[in-house]
Amino acid sequence: MRKPSLTRSLLIWPTLPPNIYFRRASNWRPFPLNQDGCRIYSLARQAIWNACKTLDLGTEDVILVPAYHHGSEIEALIEAGIQIRYYDLNEALEPDPEELQNLLSPNVRALYIIHYLGFPQDAGFWRQWCDERNLLLIEDAAQAFLATRDGLPVGSFGHIGLFCLYKTYGIPDGGAVISTVPPPPPAGAAQTGMWRAFKRHVNWVAARRGEIGLVHLMLKPLVTWWNRSWHRLRGQYTIEFELGDPSTPPATISMHLLPKLLDESTADRRRENYRFLLKHLGDMVPGPFASLPEGACPFAFPIEVSHAREFLLRLRSRGVVGLLFWLNPHPSLPVADFPRSRELREGVVALPVHQELTQNDLKQIVSAVHEACGNLRATVTSVG
Ligand SMILES: Cc1ncc(COP(=O)(O)O)c(C=O)c1O
Repeated sequence: MRKPSLTRSLLIWPTLPPNIYFRRASNWRPFPLNQDGCRIYSLARQAIWNACKTLDLGTEDVILVPAYHHGSEIEALIEAGIQIRYYDLNEALEPDPEELQNLLSPNVRALYIIHYLGFPQDAGFWRQWCDERNLLLIEDAAQAFLATRDGLPVGSFGHIGLFCLYKTYGIPDGGAVISTVPPPPPAGAAQTGMWRAFKRHVNWVAARRGEIGLVHLMLKPLVTWWNRSWHRLRGQYTIEFELGDPSTPPATISMHLLPKLLDESTADRRRENYRFLLKHLGDMVPGPFASLPEGACPFAFPIEVSHAREFLLRLRSRGVVGLLFWLNPHPSLPVADFPRSRELREGVVALPVHQELTQNDLKQIVSAVHEACGNLRATVTSVG
């Protein structure tokens, strides 16, 4: 394995520029922030829990959920007392109406769909499907803030729509929800979020300065290892899925900085970056993400690789911090029954595509991927 040299470090997450405190707040409020009933909690999983409680979903009720999921959304539903029934996805990562129909029983009350990586599902179709069966539709737009479908914001079709604001902008936290009956605003005490904001500032510097990038690349795995070991010592094996206190509000600094970060060009810039990566790495992209639909607001750029862990290490030594996407499902998933979801979990690597990436950053990503593949692919287009 090549030793990392002085290299800027590029993460999936948008960073926080140090001058953000002096920027003027934007007047633009995209959906759902422009809705009176919008509520913001610290995390989207807390938003899910509160919205389900408010709509009276409980122990008598079953919800149809996808086998391909993050895990924290499933934990939130289970913590809300709802029974989970898994469905598989088709080749296009969409639910199959026939399979869903077969899963129905009198106690099914809701269908949960996920707009994967900011690519919109046909939420209008699923709303009608739910209405015809007297079901609630929950749209998980955790990765799809600013995405639209048929000219309408994703999350606006369902009875509940939820979003992770911090996945699109470099704030420490913020999980928004819009619902036909708005849940109560979070009643807990807000943290300042200063330490988490500081880390996002460090990410900003590391994406621009090779010396800091190198230190960052070397320290980050240590910090991750330390956090994991600490939680394991305390018997917390599924910490990444935990609900926490559902009444936790977003950090003060998140709400202070969000209006300064909101920008009408964000979705366009993500789409532009996605197109660039698609041009150079398109043959590695899984089918459902191989073309960019109108209205998508990509959260990350997915590629399929055979030795994902080894690949990620090679990528990291070239300054690109990818992510083995959703490696671990929620423990309640009978993994063997859902082979498509297992395949995706083991082979899909997510790369940065966010709005702050420069042309040089994008070229660095393309070169890093080509080099990490061991220059095996002779036919790659030269980076231009
Ligand atoms: C599809 C999906 N839903 C829900 C969540 C939960 O978001 P949070 O971590 O803000 O609770 C995530 C988190 O990554 C996610 O990917």
